[in-house]
Amino acid sequence: MPLFQSAIFFFFFIFSICNFNIVDSSTAFVAPITRDQSTELYTISIYFKSPLESTDLLLDLGGKFSWIDCNPDLYTSTSHHYIPCHTNLCISLGSIACSNCFRPSGPGCHNNSCDLFPENPVIRNAILAQALVDSLALTTTDGRNPGQVGIVPNFVLSCSDDSLLLGLPEGVSGLAGLGRSNYSLPAQVSNVYASPNLFALCLPGPASTSPGAAFFNTGGPYYFLPGVDLSAHLTYAPLIQNPIGFTVITYSGHPSDEYFIGVTSININGNPVKFNHSLLKIDDNGFGGTRLSTVTPYTVLETSIYTAFIEAFANESMALNLTVTDPVSPFEVCYVASDVYDTALGPAVPTIDLVMHSEDVVWRIFGGNSMVRIAWEDEDGDRDVWCLGFVDGGDKPRTSVVIGGRQMEDNLLQFDLVSMRFGFSSSVLVHDTNCGSFNFTEDPGL
Ligand SMILES: *[C@@H]1O[C@H](CO)[C@@H](O)[C@H](O)[C@H]1NC(C)=O
Ligand SMILES: *[C@@H]1O[C@H](CO)[C@@H](O)[C@H](O)[C@H]1NC(C)=O
Ligand SMILES: *[C@@H]1O[C@H](CO)[C@@H](O)[C@H](O)[C@H]1NC(C)=O
Ligand SMILES: *[C@@H]1O[C@H](CO)[C@@H](O)[C@H](O)[C@H]1NC(C)=O
Ligand SMILES: *[C@@H]1O[C@H](CO)[C@@H](O)[C@H](O)[C@H]1NC(C)=O
Ligand SMILES: *[C@@H]1O[C@H](CO)[C@@H](O)[C@H](O)[C@H]1NC(C)=O
Repeated sequence: MPLFQSAIFFFFFIFSICNFNIVDSSTAFVAPITRDQSTELYTISIYFKSPLESTDLLLDLGGKFSWIDCNPDLYTSTSHHYIPCHTNLCISLGSIACSNCFRPSGPGCHNNSCDLFPENPVIRNAILAQALVDSLALTTTDGRNPGQVGIVPNFVLSCSDDSLLLGLPEGVSGLAGLGRSNYSLPAQVSNVYASPNLFALCLPGPASTSPGAAFFNTGGPYYFLPGVDLSAHLTYAPLIQNPIGFTVITYSGHPSDEYFIGVTSININGNPVKFNHSLLKIDDNGFGGTRLSTVTPYTVLETSIYTAFIEAFANESMALNLTVTDPVSPFEVCYVASDVYDTALGPAVPTIDLVMHSEDVVWRIFGGNSMVRIAWEDEDGDRDVWCLGFVDGGDKPRTSVVIGGRQMEDNLLQFDLVSMRFGFSSSVLVHDTNCGSFNFTEDPGL
């Protein structure tokens, strides 16, 4: 029986290989990223199934693998197939379960199927569901425009049902996992095209009317209108691996699939914030350190860091004649908007520096990324404030600093899994562009 199923699997594999319109190993891809205003989460648009269907997925930077709602009423594709239990593929996926299905057959319903635990990182839920293989496609790019579509046949992911879509942006049908695992979206895309596993994100800000961009298989160029190559403005720091993985499901013995960086201190207007710096190191149990998360809207700081940080920020802002007004939950440091000067880099507030392994390797955060504009009406009339967009993560969280989406928007962030380094631009507004300025008009010559 297993031999027969391997033969079927092999047949599908050969069949798909013969079908794809491969470009070549230097092929780079681009996909649009949109920001959902109500959840403050990000969606990436890819193509999926046969015939290809445009599909929106939640962007999860730390996700181990991708998943999609396999509701048989919605899922029709001529290229999907399942992964039988006990195959090498199933074992390398780290599957720990195998299931039969007694519903009418469909995607996600087979006998003797390899099972996975797809996770929703927002409501922190996971379900047991069948693994699935289908065709994924992305548009190629020369770094300036999108071109023709390139197919990633036999893309491995998990099924889910609609219960796992709770809390995600409307219109998404699953999740795109961009983590360090061999089955993340960038890892599989680079495998098929034998290109380096290197990708970059430029998340759009709240005011952006056009999408940001994700680039796969390329270290650049990344051109944004009016013709700025952001790959020329990167600073690098090592990507750090947390030896202990913990998301919703803990895979014992497996390192984390999430991206950690080595922040060594935090400065406000150049002055170091005083706190216990050993919180910035990852200990043997995987606690501490600094992680990047696209499913966390605002940076979360461990309580003692948070307290010192907001005090130092409020203190430094006094030098700018800014007086703290009433807090707006979940934020504590807010200013009346009309008291704050506007600049090209956002509201004029103290700058925040995340200092990496060396004093001159600094991720600088200006007002455009540190502050959140909140306007509403109450009994006192119209209210309009800027609040410091960082939140209290409580005592003893797993990770001391979780850098959230707001602080990563309008920054070009590159994840190089070959050299294990993290490239960052700081605010691209400095270069007179923004993440919504990639030219998504197709170039028919590409
Ligand atoms: C799974 O096997 C059972 C018998 O063991 C059968 O009744 C059922 O229809 C099969 N389901 C699928 C999806 O093949
Ligand atoms: C991931 O792939 C690399 C290269 O193919 C391999 O060396 C490594 O063992 C794989 N990791 C896992 C966890 O399977
Ligand atoms: C700093 O934090 C570490 C880890 O939480 C702890 O072991 C150490 O005692 C702390 N040091 C001080 C001076 O509080
Ligand atoms: C407050 O700001 C002043 C002047 O910038 C600085 O000298 C002082 O150390 C700051 N205090 C704290 C607690 O950050
Ligand atoms: C702050 O206010 C004082 C007194 O009104 C003024 O002299 C000073 O220039 C102001 N500083 C800034 C940075 O606006
Ligand atoms: C965007 O790209 C298209 C196709 O290459 C080109 O015709 C158009 O001029 C570009 N738009 C801008 C604003 O440069």
